[in-house]
Amino acid sequence: MRVLIVGASGFVGTALRGAFGPTCSGTYFQHAEPDLLPLDIRDRQAVEGLVGEIQPQLIIHPAAQPHVDWCEDHVDESYAVNVAGTLNVAHAARAVGARYFFFSTDYVFDGAAGPYGEQASPRPLNVYGRHKLEAEQRVAEVLPDHLIIRVCGVYGWEKQAKNYVMGLLARSRRGEKTTPPSDQWGNPTYADNLAEAVCELATLPASGVLHVVGPEYLDRVRFSRLICEVFDLDPALLQPKTTAELYQRAARPLRGGLDTTKARSLLKTRLISPREGLQRMRQRLQAEGILP
Ligand SMILES: NC(=O)c1ccc[n+]([C@@H]2O[C@H](COP(=O)([O-])OP(=O)(O)OC[C@H]3O[C@@H](n4cnc5c(N)ncnc54)[C@H](OP(=O)(O)O)[C@@H]3O)[C@@H](O)[C@H]2O)c1
Repeated sequence: MRVLIVGASGFVGTALRGAFGPTCSGTYFQHAEPDLLPLDIRDRQAVEGLVGEIQPQLIIHPAAQPHVDWCEDHVDESYAVNVAGTLNVAHAARAVGARYFFFSTDYVFDGAAGPYGEQASPRPLNVYGRHKLEAEQRVAEVLPDHLIIRVCGVYGWEKQAKNYVMGLLARSRRGEKTTPPSDQWGNPTYADNLAEAVCELATLPASGVLHVVGPEYLDRVRFSRLICEVFDLDPALLQPKTTAELYQRAARPLRGGLDTTKARSLLKTRLISPREGLQRMRQRLQAEGILP
């Protein structure tokens, strides 16, 4: 199957490349990599040109502007990538008859009553969530054969070290404290496990919306303590605060998170617990010489 990953240079995109293997094509925007092709999804002609050239049978689209607080202050820029850019890729997928997998988020919900099933009514609290929801809705209009994969709390090895676990590891090794929000809940999701699940979804006739995350629902403090346990870090460096005390720019859905009942009934790939995911991550960091 000819697979194109749009946003292959990002965190989830890199894990997807690992799972789909070297035969898939992928794109980058600002972080060039030797095997990837440059693409700005805001440029409709460029998207059409590249997709027309590759003629993929499946387009997987993790590309986004996912920085929630930045989006809050850059509404037009967020819209250009997260909505208009997404639609450019969806139209190009339709033009070549490709299946289309789009990545979305639990931030489409308000966090009053998570974890949420696929049928729950969205009510985003911030610009990023509103734009991802609009993208979901417009994709569904453009392409009947689409799969919207909602995820949250993705962690694992990452070159840019942006994800929560990489950040906590780096700070702890420097002896710096971490302030986990004590009232934010979600499902920690191991990136490589997510990518394995997406690989399997490529072989199944799945469509519509699907929540693909880790099976356990927990708050950031419990998750942070587990990280400290698995990586032998000093838990005294954790200094929990409430979301209100953190003064984050964009409002957060506090009890966000996603219900995985549907994904678990569809997939043979086992969605792994945070403990197992963190242990796999530790082994990987050791194998790559990043950890002793
Ligand atoms: N990570 C999480 O915990 C999480 C949680 C919920 C939902 N999600 C969703 O999952 C998806 C993947 O997230 P991620 O963590 O992998 O994000 P990421 O690491 O920031 O990667 C984003 C990707 O999008 C590309 N990109 C950004 N602007 C672009 C543009 N104008 N044109 C083309 N490509 C562009 C980036 O390219 P360059 O890096 O080369 O510039 C990168 O490859 C996103 O849809 C996000 O909303 C992630």
